[in-house]
Amino acid sequence: MTMTYAIAIGNTQEQYRCRADQTLLGGMEQLGRKGIPVGCRGGGCGVCKVRIESGTTRCERMSRCHVSADEEAQGYVLACRAYPQSDLALRAVERLARCIERHRTPTFLQSASQPLSQP
Ligand code: FES
Repeated sequence: MTMTYAIAIGNTQEQYRCRADQTLLGGMEQLGRKGIPVGCRGGGCGVCKVRIESGTTRCERMSRCHVSADEEAQGYVLACRAYPQSDLALRAVERLARCIERHRTPTFLQSASQPLSQP
């Protein structure tokens, strides 16, 4: 039986489930929300770059053009090349961050913080 893990996206406070045999990007796409860019899904374009803040992943080969050895040591991975090995927390960076934050789903708290319109 394939394990399934809980993945938390720090940028938007969203969570999704991701199977151990599914990439982090594949699981994220199943959220079915706007703002997740369609990239190459093969480690070549760098659009899906994230930083793993907690938890462990298994990564396939990644282009050094997009993730340097130093960055990899700091937890940066390409979500289309990384598979969860535990529950984890990640933060989208660079282009993926701009995309998902722009299309953030309004939450109750966000709408509650909006000023009320004056009559
Ligand atoms: S989608 Fe292109 S590197 Fe991940």
